[in-house]
Amino acid sequence: MQKKTFRFSNASVDYYFAGGISHLKEIVDNKNTILITDENVFAHHQKRFKNWNTIVLKPGEEYKVQATVDSIIEQLIEMEADRKTTLVGVGGGVITDLTGYVASVYMRGIRFGFVPTTLLSLVDASIGGKNGIDVGVYKNMVGIIRQPSFILHDLVLLNSLPENEWRNGFAEIIKHACIKDAAMFRELEKNDLNFYQKRKKETGALIQRNALIKTKVVQQDEFEQGDRKLLNFGHTLGHALENQYELSHGEAISIGMTYAASLSQQLKKFKQTERVVNVLEKYGLPTFAQFDKDKVINVLKMDKKKTKDSINFILLERIGKAVIQPISIDQLYQSL
Ligand SMILES: NC(=O)c1ccc[n+]([C@@H]2O[C@H](COP(=O)([O-])OP(=O)(O)OC[C@H]3O[C@@H](n4cnc5c(N)ncnc54)[C@H](O)[C@@H]3O)[C@@H](O)[C@H]2O)c1
Ligand SMILES: [Zn+2]
Repeated sequence: MQKKTFRFSNASVDYYFAGGISHLKEIVDNKNTILITDENVFAHHQKRFKNWNTIVLKPGEEYKVQATVDSIIEQLIEMEADRKTTLVGVGGGVITDLTGYVASVYMRGIRFGFVPTTLLSLVDASIGGKNGIDVGVYKNMVGIIRQPSFILHDLVLLNSLPENEWRNGFAEIIKHACIKDAAMFRELEKNDLNFYQKRKKETGALIQRNALIKTKVVQQDEFEQGDRKLLNFGHTLGHALENQYELSHGEAISIGMTYAASLSQQLKKFKQTERVVNVLEKYGLPTFAQFDKDKVINVLKMDKKKTKDSINFILLERIGKAVIQPISIDQLYQSL
């Protein structure tokens, strides 16, 4: 099985892009490994979990909380997990975040790896070492930056992925294209969601390319002093919208990217808002949406990224080139 190793500041991570979960036994010792997954993934792919110790959790963001951490820890103790144990998160971002967090605190830290099963976790959540949980309304309030030992891809798992989760994943892929990769943006313009859902080979290549974009950004700035912030393109406004309206993460950041693009047009002479909007629409994502400006600005004011009365906004100079720009709340209010 082909392996690529990436160095981070105090760990290296093995990526198995063309692996398949059947190869997991070549990476970890079955006796000393516990898989953590959720009911949806388990139900669709039960036979792949055969002969593995498995903890199955309830699915959904509402379970990415301390109570779930406590219950996992109790089960680990019951299963006699010790310092030799490896935890493997097999699931979307909720499962990988929980697994990485529990593995980082159980017995002061044990080995862990990921088998991401959503498009979003393949291209985003499994990469970069951020692991954590939500506290009340505060998303990812508690956590740690610690890299997994390995990431194993198995694209067959995507066969059961619901349509809306494909769209969520594409929102992050379009984000990567906007901030870092103009050529990939053109590829996305040429194709559409249906194209990738039908074509394994092209989807595999696209997933790898995106995993590498995020990996490179994180390698250069693991602790988010500079360039890693660019990954927040569309997310500042997106998070505020997600917090106020019934939107999925992908939908929220899609609207966020639309407004960030038009803000870039006003402040950075960016000329391609229409292309950004068109590509988002092509992948079934919302763009210019009506929302209560005052409500959303209020949420932004309380955002933890706020410094004094300005917000660090990610803008585009052109497709493939993003910059960080502090914008005052007033200025933002005027231009929305
Ligand atoms: N750590 C990071 O750097 C990082 C980055 C981005 C997002 N995240 C986190 O990731 C989470 C979102 O991840 P997500 O979108 O993968 O959500 P998720 O884990 O909730 O998965 C979405 C849904 O798809 C189901 N599912 C997963 N794989 C499936 C499959 N193969 N077939 C059928 N159903 C499947 C899940 O049960 C769930 O219902 C958020 O909590 C977010 O904070 C973390
Ligand atoms: Zn995101």
